[in-house]
Amino acid sequence: METVVSGIRPTGNLHLGNYFGALRNFIQMQNEHNCYFFIADYHSLTTHPTPQDLHGNVKQILVEYLAAGLDPEKATLYIQSDVPETAELYLFLNMNAYIGELERCTSFKDKIRQQPQNVNAGLLTYPTLMAADIIIHRATKVPVGKDQEQHLEMTRTFGNRFNRMYNVDYFPEPQAFNFGQQLVKIPGLNGSGKMGKSEGEGNAIYLADEPEAIRKKVMKAVTDSGPTEPNQEKPEVIQNIFQLMKVVSSDETFNYFDEQYNKCQIRYGDMKKQLAEDMITFTAPFREQIKAYLSDEAYISRVAAMGREKARESASKTLREVREIIGFKSF
Ligand code: TRP
Repeated sequence: METVVSGIRPTGNLHLGNYFGALRNFIQMQNEHNCYFFIADYHSLTTHPTPQDLHGNVKQILVEYLAAGLDPEKATLYIQSDVPETAELYLFLNMNAYIGELERCTSFKDKIRQQPQNVNAGLLTYPTLMAADIIIHRATKVPVGKDQEQHLEMTRTFGNRFNRMYNVDYFPEPQAFNFGQQLVKIPGLNGSGKMGKSEGEGNAIYLADEPEAIRKKVMKAVTDSGPTEPNQEKPEVIQNIFQLMKVVSSDETFNYFDEQYNKCQIRYGDMKKQLAEDMITFTAPFREQIKAYLSDEAYISRVAAMGREKARESASKTLREVREIIGFKSF
């Protein structure tokens, strides 16, 4: 059994791309491993320090992950700022993180370009905070995508540096959990190859979307003027619509429209109507759960308390040991 850690940024709502990507893997992992999943609200301060939104965003994302199937009885599901030991470990790691290596980090360079008016120290030390998140539970596995590989490499560097500096073998080296081909790629609706919140208006279907919003977005999905020859290869925008149908509709429905396409009799309007209805059916249980949890403050606070307690138990043990290794002693 591995100890798994992953952080979730509290930005935006969950869409079908998230669901078929990382989320389904989290749901599977929680059955097999000792998992810590947390909402990275400290991290969000590096870009988004707006007190009016912070709590609501954290609540929304917590509720959506619960609705999608994360189980607080199986995984430790917590909010980063509920575990202030994280901040203390971050401080220790920062003492041995070098400006040069932090400045070379690709995500930092990207951020400088994106927010030149706010190049704060938190942005520079984002990788040490992320390292603290991971090694605070002495995790061995981190389920992250390619874009986080460099951060994970830095985590190993910081952990190893600590071990070397104090001549201990305390922090294990965390490795990426790689899902490779298992990931189902979910295309967007506006012709872009990938569903995502930054891919433009109307591109993503969110788990919390109301039926009317889903119908609108699907009916606007990009298509072409239709096939002119039987069994013609599908251009990318059409393949995208079929791929979406593959994940939310029945095989019969998929095969029916596939045949219509091959016979050059396809009516995209009909296909999209069907796709919209099937998406509404597919997302219905999530939508209902999200609503139910959002109005159940008592349940949310019970979940948060449970996560906080389990996460702090693990984190405070690490900090106790780390303080001792560093040489802090109380008088
Ligand atoms: N940096 C991650 C992202 O942008 C979020 C994150 C923060 C994280 N701390 C983490 C992921 C620890 C894995 C482990 O998605």
